[in-house]
Formats: sequence, C-alpha cells, structure tokens
Amino acid sequence: MTYKSKFKDNLSIFDTDKFEKDKKLNLIEKLLDKYVIKDMDDWKDVNADLIITDPPFGIDFSGKNGNYNRNVRNVVDGYVEWKVSEYDRKVERLLEVIERNLKKNGQALIFSGWNNSNIVHNKILQFERLKLRGKMYWIYNFAPACKRKTSHNVYEIYWVTKGDRWIFNNRCSTHHCREGEPNLSTFIFKRDYKINMPKYPTRLPFKLLQSLIEHFSNEGDLIFDPLCGSGMVGIVSYMLNRDFIIGDLNSNGKTVFEHLLHHYLSKYSFG
Ligand SMILES: C[S@@+](CC[C@H](N)C(=O)[O-])C[C@H]1O[C@@H](n2cnc3c(N)ncnc32)[C@H](O)[C@@H]1O
Repeated sequence: MTYKSKFKDNLSIFDTDKFEKDKKLNLIEKLLDKYVIKDMDDWKDVNADLIITDPPFGIDFSGKNGNYNRNVRNVVDGYVEWKVSEYDRKVERLLEVIERNLKKNGQALIFSGWNNSNIVHNKILQFERLKLRGKMYWIYNFAPACKRKTSHNVYEIYWVTKGDRWIFNNRCSTHHCREGEPNLSTFIFKRDYKINMPKYPTRLPFKLLQSLIEHFSNEGDLIFDPLCGSGMVGIVSYMLNRDFIIGDLNSNGKTVFEHLLHHYLSKYSFG
C-alpha cells in the first residue's frame, strides 16, 4: 500500500459546500504544481528573492530511528541523505545552486545540524560569489531518550547574501517579536508534530518559517527551496502571500506536502 492510499481517507475536505470544496481542490492542484521532483543541480534562473533550505545532515539519517519523537510507521521513505565523504562537495554544489537561482539582491538562509556545520561554514567562507552576513540559531524541543549524554537541540542558520543590499524586517508577528525583547539571533520554536498523517523526517515547524519569512522577505517575493522535503517552506510562503517554487528528489515528500496543504488550508482561511 502506498503512503498516498494508506492515508487517503484522512485527507480532510472542508465541511463547506461543493463550490468551496472545488475551489480548495483547484487551489491545491495549482500549489502542487509548484513542487517539482528534481535534483537540486538541475535548477537554474529561478530568480528568487529568498532561498530557505535545509540540506541533509550527512549522518546516515533516515528519520526511522526509534529514538525520535514520532510514530516511525508514519514516516515516509525515500529521504536522500548525503554521505560524509561527499559532504563538502555537495555543500559546494548547493552554494552554486543558491547563487545561480537568486536575484541580484537575493539572500539565502541555510540550515545546518551541528555535526557537519564546520563544513557548511568553511564552504560558505570559501565561496566568493556569496557573502556570509551572519549566523542564527533555532532552538527546539527535540530530546530523544537522553540517558547518557546531553542532546544538541540547536540548528544553525547561515545567512548569506548575493549583493550588498537585502530585505530585513525588524519585527515579525510571531511570539519571537511579540513577547519581550526580540532576539534576532535566536529563534525558539517547538516542532509542530501532526498526527494521523504521513510524516516527513526533519519537517520544519510552521512558526519558525513564518518568523524567518517575515523577517527576510516581503509580500509578493518569490521563495525557493531546492531541498524541500515536506514542502513546508512552500506552504508557509503561500500562507504569507509570497510566491514559491520548491523541489526534492523524494516523490514521497510531495505526498506529505499534499496532506499538509489540506491540513493548513482547512485550518486557516484561503482565497
Ligand atoms: C533535511 S531534508 C529537508 C526537510 C525540509 N526542510 C522539510 O521541512 O520537510 C533534506 C532533503 O534534501 C533532499 N535531497 C537530498 N539530495 C537532494 C538533491 N540532490 N536534490 C534534491 N533533493 C535532495 C532529501 O530527499 C531531503 O528531503
């Protein structure tokens, strides 16, 4: 049984009339076309304002390990990992992809787990056509059975720009800026696990992406993620009135994306 058929009955369709349902389904078809099954190397001239991307970790990751806080039976297959031996070459290629698909004054946010962030950092410094402007941290609630050592609940987010100008909005509408003093280097957001739905390993949470997108782009901007997994970057971009184009080699990612579209378009109003 494919993931799609296993979960098909759970796809929530609006409790509204047929017109509303058709409108929603048409919209979903349109948004699905923006998720392309494609190798990152095959993208060119996207002309994005902002790239948000989260490369594989280079740690033999499959997302199926029992120590993760999720029901592994719902985790889809097909995640393409990068070997440690090829990690530096892959990161270099990702930087090429970013550079050739950004606008002149475009910018990118590149996620990294701690294991290979030294490689990501060094490759960015060596890459002359992008400039490292800063590093931020996402702190999250991931704590697999920590009996013998602490766990590292932090992602690094490298901020790079192509030119000398960029978009930065000093306030976002999430708790990151609404509660207390905004802290523009640290983002504290919980993972938003979904139940009864196919799951993508390493799916980024909605509110974290909302905060980053509001800080680093404006409405109408084009946002691109060549390693999109579940496609959360696309979903949040759409919800925040940005355009998007996303891709991954894993077609199961697109199935998760479809389920997430149904979920978020039902949860929030659309039009
Ligand atoms: C860390 S995951 C991204 C998860 C995503 N941020 C989300 O919110 O679901 C990295 C993704 O890169 C994909 N990938 C690895 N190599 C790729 C390549 N050469 N081209 C396209 N996608 C690739 C993997 O299949 C995986 O889905």
